[in-house]
Amino acid sequence: METRTQVGIIGAGPAGLVLAHLLRARGIDCVVLERQSRSYVEARIRAGVLEHGTVDLLTSLGLADRLHRERMVHHGIELLFERSAHRIPLTELAGREITIYGQHEVVKDLIAAWGGPLHFSVSDVSLSDLSFAPTISYVDASGVSQVLRCDVIAGCDGFHGVSRAAIPADVLRVHQRDYPHAWLGILAQAPPSSEELIYAHSPRGFALHSMRSPTVTRMYLQVRPDEDLAEWPDERIWAELRARLDRSDAGWSLADGPILERSVAAMRSFVVSPMQYGRLFLAGDAAHIVPPTGAKGLNLAVADVKVLADALSSFYATGDSAGLDAYSETCLRRVWRVQHFSWWMTSMLHPTGDDPFDLELQLSQLRYVTSSRAAATSLAENYVGFPFP
Ligand code: FAD
Ligand code: DHB
Repeated sequence: METRTQVGIIGAGPAGLVLAHLLRARGIDCVVLERQSRSYVEARIRAGVLEHGTVDLLTSLGLADRLHRERMVHHGIELLFERSAHRIPLTELAGREITIYGQHEVVKDLIAAWGGPLHFSVSDVSLSDLSFAPTISYVDASGVSQVLRCDVIAGCDGFHGVSRAAIPADVLRVHQRDYPHAWLGILAQAPPSSEELIYAHSPRGFALHSMRSPTVTRMYLQVRPDEDLAEWPDERIWAELRARLDRSDAGWSLADGPILERSVAAMRSFVVSPMQYGRLFLAGDAAHIVPPTGAKGLNLAVADVKVLADALSSFYATGDSAGLDAYSETCLRRVWRVQHFSWWMTSMLHPTGDDPFDLELQLSQLRYVTSSRAAATSLAENYVGFPFP
């Protein structure tokens, strides 16, 4: 079977789904192809911190009604080190708030509001003729081979997708840094033990206390990249969280409860440039990965597709391809700012265990950002996110 569309979107994560809605709002046709089933993508637990710009964009598209009802708005975060908590007043310093709302809730809202073509459980996706007549071949959920001819392909298929691999290797520059740690994440049926997020540096390693609702917490522990989840029974997870989040002020305790989900995620910094080749445009995790410490990956994916949708909109309205030609350069400016911030937060908060020099540098930096208004303001403006392009 052969069909045609203006923009073929590979991947129904935040990048692909937000792009689809942006294009529809501008009267541009698109088809979204997703390898996983609907129930899988709607249950995939990942990010939870949305920048103001991300919320504004979803609101402007009419996609944020449930978000505004259910979200938690935060105006600060805590940095905990040497068993003392120090608040960074984000809104006071940087003028913007952050929103806590699960990525999978965003995905559910975007799918529910989408009336256009979105094909789940597709397989054998491959891309061809990227220079002039881009084509996507795939097998649909009922096993029928399909060919989708497009003007443009948006590769929104995450780090392990097929889009980036369709670009000849000698065209792409890869910038990469691996870290000697991973995050063990849990979602627990337990009320948050703090009103705001706590980023904790301890001699035992980093821990993060986050949340999803007044009854559900989301927490992370720094572990080894090859950590085996089987070695982490519930009691060990709670004991380690208690030890790392421990603070000297009396009266604080960590509420626990049944663990609903757990996983280990590797940490890496990764950027390819350019983010485009012929008529293929990469967006989100397909083009770049940040370590999660800055809470930026989802927000960066949304910023990319905003740039792409604006460029496609001018292209279809006037034939002007200047925005498309500049896509990669425009996105990479933000990508590298976010890469730096995420690397910096990661370096400051994750002890490596074997180097006393590194440890003293981390503690000095933590004392500095929590005592200098200038340094705290720099952290705050990066954390809340710069305005979207
Ligand atoms: P993805 O969400 O990976 O979506 C890609 C989609 O493409 C997937 O649905 C995938 O199934 C599909 N796909 C793959 N291959 C194919 C194929 N061949 N054909 C068709 N479809 C395909 N970011 C934040 O901003 N804030 C946070 O607080 C935060 N916390 C995080 C915590 C954890 C534990 C993790 C793992 C990530 C976190 N992130 C965070 C990062 C964020 O989740 C990602 O950056 C975000 O999911 C990127 O969106 P995307 O749409 O680019 O990619
Ligand atoms: C969450 C994830 C992050 O990566 C982060 O930096 C803060 C919060 C979360 O899942 O809630």
